[in-house]
Amino acid sequence: MNNKSKYEVLFTENQISEKVKQLGLQITKDYENKNLLLVCMLKGSILFFSDLIRSIDLNFHIDFMAATSYVGTQSTGVVTIEKDLDLNISNYHILIVEDIIDTGRTLTCIKDLLLNKSPLSVKICTFLDKPSKRTVSLIPDYSGYKIDDLFVIGYGLDYDENYRNLPFIAIYKD
Ligand code: IMP
Ligand code: MG
Repeated sequence: MNNKSKYEVLFTENQISEKVKQLGLQITKDYENKNLLLVCMLKGSILFFSDLIRSIDLNFHIDFMAATSYVGTQSTGVVTIEKDLDLNISNYHILIVEDIIDTGRTLTCIKDLLLNKSPLSVKICTFLDKPSKRTVSLIPDYSGYKIDDLFVIGYGLDYDENYRNLPFIAIYKD
């Protein structure tokens, strides 16, 4: 089986860039005159993050965090912080930038961790959301597309570290 028969396109490059522009405009409005720190959740958010920051017309700082909860297509439920922020966040309004929210456990844990450091505020921007999979109540402040209970790859999202480089988002069918 070649790679292409393992997936089916869900969002094209054009649909992705239109949505990113809309999110960028909204964030630009909402954070005007605020000391903003955009936090990229590694690794899945790298492509969304790099597009989003170029669609926000403000001065802001960036930082990176890494947490894992997944093995293959299953959430293990245990969130491990593999890289923490470099900056002291006490004077920032934080916007966490995530690729996808599934059970909501990862971001609930990250949000609590950041709130403990007393920043000015903490909000969440996710490109994709699977609300039907939630096991904890977590509602993103900014969300690109809501999707059904599907495992998706591409645009930074992986299946066991593969497919992150696909320029579109696809449903993994294997
Ligand atoms: P949660 O803690 O269950 O919300 O897991 C969120 C994390 O799981 C995301 O940041 C992704 O890294 C990963 N994840 C969840 N669903 C998918 C998917 O469909 N494709 C690829 N990664 C996913
Ligand atoms: Mg992730």
